[in-house]
Amino acid sequence: MKILLIGSGGREHALAYALKKSDTPVELLCTQGNPGILQLAKKADVDIDNSSELVTFCREEKIDLVVVGPEQPLANGIADILRENSIHVFGPSKKAAMLESSKAFAKEFMNKYGIPTAEHKKFDKGKINICKEYIEGLQSFPVVIKADGLAAGKGVIIAETKEEAINSVEDMFSGKFGKAGDTLVIEEFMKGQEASILAVTDGKDFITLASSQDHKRIFDDDKGPNTGGMGAYSPAPVVTNEVLDKVHREIVIPAIEGMHQEGTPFIGCLYAGLMIDNGTPKVVEFNVRFGDPETQAVLMNFDGDFARLLYSASDGKLDKSAVRNVCVSHTCCVIMASKGYPDSYPKGQLITGIEEAEINGSLVFHAGTKYDNGKLTASGGRVLGVTGKGNTLQEAIDNAYYSVSKINFENCFYRKDIGKKGLQQNS
Ligand code: AMP
Ligand code: GLY
Repeated sequence: MKILLIGSGGREHALAYALKKSDTPVELLCTQGNPGILQLAKKADVDIDNSSELVTFCREEKIDLVVVGPEQPLANGIADILRENSIHVFGPSKKAAMLESSKAFAKEFMNKYGIPTAEHKKFDKGKINICKEYIEGLQSFPVVIKADGLAAGKGVIIAETKEEAINSVEDMFSGKFGKAGDTLVIEEFMKGQEASILAVTDGKDFITLASSQDHKRIFDDDKGPNTGGMGAYSPAPVVTNEVLDKVHREIVIPAIEGMHQEGTPFIGCLYAGLMIDNGTPKVVEFNVRFGDPETQAVLMNFDGDFARLLYSASDGKLDKSAVRNVCVSHTCCVIMASKGYPDSYPKGQLITGIEEAEINGSLVFHAGTKYDNGKLTASGGRVLGVTGKGNTLQEAIDNAYYSVSKINFENCFYRKDIGKKGLQQNS
């Protein structure tokens, strides 16, 4: 099967790894890639923002399937263009991608289809005074303030006080997140533990992969600003069989059926970001693609023919027999970032120790790396996703951190507590 993979981060490196491990022999091409992905895929010289060039490329190269990693091309409508030209694509249409590209749309959708989530109110930029009055009237804090549009996981502020809430609203409306902040959503703060569920769906049927838990804040013990994600482990014990059953019945099935009823069937990976309190799951957010870094942890747990699974979903005929086991072990992915992330950070530092780090079953997924004069260097905020495996969560954590200890680059930063909440849950 000839597959074109779009994207260049740690998630895409993990997707490339799982696709290449499929029972179906896979010839992999990638549009952007990174040094890790390019060990598994050939670089495709095509501009994905140029529709006719993309379609011509897929036809000439006889691409069987396009797998879209990041949200932005989906929000731009890449899946629509490919489908209109009879090219198989794993990823939702532009309209279905609104589940992620507009928080206001997602909240209205959830309310319409009875999907449990936090109470919310939406405000447009012209209505800043009404928005401030609303905050003045609130009795309990924290509240959560979210830019409506895509903001790389950073457009969410948990305001502990009235003053902080008002300042955040002023910041957002004054353009801190560009157009993404022209509309904002203020919502009730939910307590509990977070978990992520990734459902592969053909628009009607679905299969959920192993559960996982991301670590969104930059510092240990969930302190500091939100990031794209600083690490993940899988499975997440907070997602018991009972919770998973509720997630299927109350969240995944109504979402897939709802999108169908709206005339915008969802084909791709539906990511449900959950808050679980006392065994009750509610949706924090939907994403319309695999999570990053959850995918690194989840796909190292996957056993089956991943290429066939994604192809069958793109073809509208989900083939669950392509999955042997969604969760064969325990995994833990520690993100090694450049100090300063999620704000500004240095680039160009030399990276050493990756080969030494890939022991005891650990894999090092590249996120922000590039070759500079033949030397591997850091080129992004999140640089590497070092992923350990084990028969227990503790073993997976130990293996991941042992591998991390082998890797060096200047100004490297990582959380020391990835997986800790999972251990507490187990004890
Ligand atoms: P989102 O981009 O909507 O997933 O939000 C980013 C992060 O902010 C989430 O992963 C949560 O940690 C936190 N968050 C978002 N909404 C809420 C909420 N209503 N209650 C508590 N925490 C939230
Ligand atoms: N890790 C969160 C996300 O992928 O949006």
